[in-house]
Amino acid sequence: MPFLDQQPANVRLVSLVLRRFDPDLDLATVLALCLAEGWASLPADPERARRALTAPGVTTVVAVAADSVVEGFAQMMSDGEIQAFLVNLLVTPALRQQGVGRALIREAFGLAGGQRVDLLTDTAEDFYERWPHRRFTGFRLYPDHSPGREG
Ligand SMILES: CC(C)(COP(=O)(O)OP(=O)(O)OC[C@H]1O[C@@H](n2cnc3c(N)ncnc32)[C@H](O)[C@@H]1OP(=O)(O)O)[C@@H](O)C(=O)NCCC(=O)NCCS
Repeated sequence: MPFLDQQPANVRLVSLVLRRFDPDLDLATVLALCLAEGWASLPADPERARRALTAPGVTTVVAVAADSVVEGFAQMMSDGEIQAFLVNLLVTPALRQQGVGRALIREAFGLAGGQRVDLLTDTAEDFYERWPHRRFTGFRLYPDHSPGREG
């Protein structure tokens, strides 16, 4: 799906395509994006990341520039009917505030299916506040180990 957005004069002018994540094409640049953001869980083990981003029930969508570089991605889990969960959403800093994040959520949700999306955030509340939403208290449980080791 071609993706066109409004571009302020002082940002990179790129046209992006949104499509499903292809690990053979996209894994390295997705992991590079995560590393640049300081996200450790996916880059810590690339083969594990490949499995996680392509697991059953997982829909991963990438925003790709003409040079095939991934400029953003969304990872959504869904039962396909009712409940989806946004696991990861990341847009490269130079292309933020231009509608890429919103387009990634819409595309991933459309492909994954469901009626609603839950998510946790401690970095992007203002972005999510712009969507129709309800607020809940969130928990992240670590059944097998203590918190702090990973995300
Ligand atoms: C959060 C993130 C994905 C948003 O992506 P983005 O491409 O900048 O978002 P969009 O341009 O689609 O934003 C949609 C709207 O929200 C606004 N918006 C985006 N980020 C915002 C922010 N931090 N604060 C306030 N408004 C914001 C945009 O201006 C836009 O407004 P509009 O509806 O008036 O046009 C991006 O900032 C990012 O990758 N952040 C670092 C990683 C992160 O925190 N991910 C979320 C983890 S839960």
